[in-house]
Amino acid sequence: MIKKLGDYMGSRKTLLPWSIAISAVNGLLTLIPYILLWLVVRTLIISGGDVSDPKVKDYALWAFLISIVDLILYFVALMLSHLTAFRMETTMRKKAMENVMKAPLGFFENKNTGIMRKVIDENASETHTLIAHILPDLASSIVSPLGVIALLIIVDWQLGLATLIPIIISFGIMVYMMNPAKNHFQRNYLNALEKMSSEAVEYVRGIPVVKTFQQSVFSFKQFYDSIVSYRDLVIKYTIFWRMPMSLYTVVINSCAFILVPTGIIMIGHQGDTATIISDMILYVLIAPIIAANIMKIMNLGQNIFLTSEAIKRMEKMTVAEELSENDIPKKCTHFDINFENVSFRYEDAKNDAISNINLNIPEGTTIALVGESGSGKTTIARMIPRFWDVCEGCVKIGGIDIKQMDKHELMKNISFVFQNTRLFKTSILNNVCYGNPNATLDEVNRAINLSQSREIIDRLPNGLNTIIGSEGTYLSGGEQQRIVLARAILKNAPIIVLDEATAFADPENEHIIRQALTHLTKDKTVLMIAHRLTTVKDVDKIAVIEKGKIAEQGTHDELMAKKSLYYNMWNEYQKAIDWKI
Ligand SMILES: Nc1ncnc2c1ncn2[C@@H]1O[C@H](COP(=O)(O)OP(=O)(O)OP(=O)(O)O)[C@@H](O)[C@H]1O
Ligand SMILES: [Mg+2]
Repeated sequence: MIKKLGDYMGSRKTLLPWSIAISAVNGLLTLIPYILLWLVVRTLIISGGDVSDPKVKDYALWAFLISIVDLILYFVALMLSHLTAFRMETTMRKKAMENVMKAPLGFFENKNTGIMRKVIDENASETHTLIAHILPDLASSIVSPLGVIALLIIVDWQLGLATLIPIIISFGIMVYMMNPAKNHFQRNYLNALEKMSSEAVEYVRGIPVVKTFQQSVFSFKQFYDSIVSYRDLVIKYTIFWRMPMSLYTVVINSCAFILVPTGIIMIGHQGDTATIISDMILYVLIAPIIAANIMKIMNLGQNIFLTSEAIKRMEKMTVAEELSENDIPKKCTHFDINFENVSFRYEDAKNDAISNINLNIPEGTTIALVGESGSGKTTIARMIPRFWDVCEGCVKIGGIDIKQMDKHELMKNISFVFQNTRLFKTSILNNVCYGNPNATLDEVNRAINLSQSREIIDRLPNGLNTIIGSEGTYLSGGEQQRIVLARAILKNAPIIVLDEATAFADPENEHIIRQALTHLTKDKTVLMIAHRLTTVKDVDKIAVIEKGKIAEQGTHDELMAKKSLYYNMWNEYQKAIDWKI
C-alpha cells in the first residue's frame, strides 16, 4: 500500500519524510514547557512561594518561546504533509479517470456512473487523513511518550514505575483491540455502507415509478434491508468494542489514582515532602500525554486499514481490462463485416449469450436481426464496436480482425444508435457536432434536414443554439432520436449499427424516423435490430436469432417461403397489427 501511495505522490514523495522528521522534533519539544513548568513549581515550593526569584521568570519565558517554536514546527510539518496528500489525491482521481476512459464500452454497461463518481471521489479523500495527519502525528505520538517515559524514570524511578503500571496494562488492551482479526468487522462495515448508498441511489431513481403505481415506500425492500443490516452491524460493532474500550479509557486515565497513594507512602518513608509533591505535579501533568498519544497510535491501525480498503475499492471499480491492440494497427479500406464462429459469454454468466455466430454483411448492404427478447441481438451488435471482446472466433471488418485495428479508427468507422442514446445538456448544435466536430454549419443543417429534425429546430426559441433541458425545452423520445440520427448522419461513418432505433416512435413518428434512417443508411454497411417486422421487410438479409444462435437467414421472401420461424413471427406480427386496428 505504501508503495502505491508513494507512486501517487509523485515528486512530492520526498516531502513526507521531512514532515515526519519535523513532527518528531516537535513531539520532543512539546515536553520541554512541561519540564519548565515543573521547575517553576519546584522553585516556588522550595522558596516558599517567592515569585521574585529571577529563575522563575526565565523558566516562564523559555516555556513561552519554546511553545511558539513548537507551534511553528507543527505548522510546517502539517503543511508539508498536506502538500503531499493533496498531490496524491489529485493523482488518484486522475489515474482513476484515465483508466475509466480507456475501458471498453461494455465496462459502463453494468456500472452505475453516479456510484462510480462517488467511489472515486470518496475513496481518494479517504487517503487524506492518513498522509496529511496520521503519519506526521505518528512520529510525535511515538517520540513524545518515549520522552515522557524516560523523564518519568529519570526524575524519580519509584513514582515512574507506579505511573507505568496503568500504561502497560492499557497498552495490552490496545494490542488486543488492534488485532488484525478484528479487521473483518471493518470490512463488513464498509461493505454495508457501500450497499446502503447504492441502494439509496436506486431508491431515489425509482421514486417516479413508486409514485405512479402508488406503492408504499416498503416496495423498496432492498433499500430497507440494507439499512437494517447496516444498523445491525453498527450495533454489533459497538457492543463488541464497549468493554475493551471502557476498560482502556478507565485504566489509561488512572495514573493520578495510583500516584497519590504512592506519593503518600513515599513521604511517610523519605519525608522530603516538597520534592515529592513537586515531582508528583510533573507526573500528573505529563502522564496524560502518553494516554493521548497511545490513542493516536491506535487510530493509525484503523486508518491504515481504511486507506488500503479505499485503494482496493477504487481500483476494483475503475481498473478495467484495456482492450488489446496491435503494435502496428491495421487500417481497413473495405467495410464488409464478417462474424466468424463468434461466441460470447458475459462475465459470471453460466451460458454463452451468443454462440457460433457466422454472419456476413457485404459492404453497402443491410442486415436485420430479429428474434425474441433476450435472444442475443444486442449482444451481437455490440461485438462490432468492441463493447466487449469475443470469447471465441473473430469479427472482421474489410477482412481485418477488429482486435488488430486502431481503436480510434474503429470508432471513427462506426456510428451506433441505441434506443437509449442520450443527448447532452448543451445546445442542439453541440449535440449534433459530437458526430463531427469539424463540420461546417451547412453540413450541420443538411444533417438536420435529412434527419427530419428541421421542424423541431424551428419550434425552439433559439433554434440550433437552444440548450436542451433549459427554458422549458424538453424533447420527446422520438424527437431526441431524430437529433441523435442527425448526429449519426453528420458523422457519415461507413458502418451503421442500429438497435431498436424506431422503438420510441408512434406510427406517425415512425414514418418520419424511417425516412431519416433511409438517409442515414444509404450506401452504408448496416446492422439493424428492430422489433417491428415491417421495418425490416425490405432489407437485403434478415437473420433470425434464437437462444444466441442464428436459426435461419435470408431475404423476407425466402424466409416466408420456408414457412418456419420467421414465417410464424410474421403472421403473429400481422395479427398484432390487425388487433390494434
Ligand atoms: N450487460 C450484461 N451482463 C450480463 N448479461 C447480459 C448483459 N446484457 C445482456 N445479457 C444477457 O444476454 C442475453 C442476451 O441479451 P441481449 O440484450 O443481447 O438480448 P436481445 O435479443 O437484444 O433482447 P431484447 O430484444 O430484449 O433487446 C440475455 O440472456 C441477457 O440476460
Ligand atoms: Mg436488445
